[in-house]
Amino acid sequence: MRASAEAPCKAIITGEHFVVHGAWALVAALGKKVKVDVEQADRFQLRSDRRSISRAALAPAESVVETMAHEFSFKPNLRIQISSEVPDGAGLGSSASTMVALAAAISRLKSLGLGRREVIDFAMVGEKEIHGHPSGIDVNICATGGVLLFKMGARPKQVRLSGQATLLIVQSGRKRQTRKLIDRVATTKSRYPGLFEGLAESASEVSRMAADRLSAGDTEGLGRLLTFNHAVLSFIGASNERLDGLVDTLLSLGCKGAKLTGAGGGGSVIALAAEGKEKSTISELKRRGFDAFEAKIPVGGVRSWLRP
Ligand code: PMV
Repeated sequence: MRASAEAPCKAIITGEHFVVHGAWALVAALGKKVKVDVEQADRFQLRSDRRSISRAALAPAESVVETMAHEFSFKPNLRIQISSEVPDGAGLGSSASTMVALAAAISRLKSLGLGRREVIDFAMVGEKEIHGHPSGIDVNICATGGVLLFKMGARPKQVRLSGQATLLIVQSGRKRQTRKLIDRVATTKSRYPGLFEGLAESASEVSRMAADRLSAGDTEGLGRLLTFNHAVLSFIGASNERLDGLVDTLLSLGCKGAKLTGAGGGGSVIALAAEGKEKSTISELKRRGFDAFEAKIPVGGVRSWLRP
């Protein structure tokens, strides 16, 4: 018997970094997925295809398996294959997507009947090993899907969209480590504590407003909030010349707004293209050497199934 699970990746729309310090953030699941296949074996084996999680995430994935095996008293002699469509180190949550799919696939194979909250808790075991003190936004959205307003310690709020929305996801071409960027932002916080507190409060407000604009299909208003949020993220140390330059390029191509997404320092930028100009904007970006794709939201969360 083989169990499989697929989890979507994600893009943080507003509020990253501040979410680690207690602010609300807005996040969407994206259609690119990580798939995990699990079957019984005579020893533990964990394989990942070329594009899947980095070597650094293999040990945390093993910790998820060991924690589940210990909790539910089974031997961790499983053959696990990870395959991914999600670029690694791109701020799109490939590690969270992997950990969520892994926990869901094991739950299915062992008939544990875990609910979404338990899958999230086991996935967090791996995420904490990779990132130190993650807010949990990534595993929550990968498990739940859709669009969420997320704050640590609060019940996430589903954001309903009146129709489909399209985000442009543009790769900066630079990998980065979330943990290092979180530390850099913490330095800004200790240098300007009062200012940082105000910015964190405003990030919550920006996220709530962005959720309203997205629900209402107001892409002009949402775009302005994205660009504003990028400027603030740049101030706290999450951006660099390459990302600032990419945001300027996207705005000069007529996008309604653009910003870094996730930890920054590299990774990806999200943008809202001018009406009907998604494909031509992507072609122009490719001509300039940037990999980019269109992401339609909302998409569903993790799902799992059994095959004899
Ligand atoms: O996983 P990344 O690189 O997309 O970053 C997640 C967003 C942060 O706010 C920087 C960290 C967190 O745990 O919320």
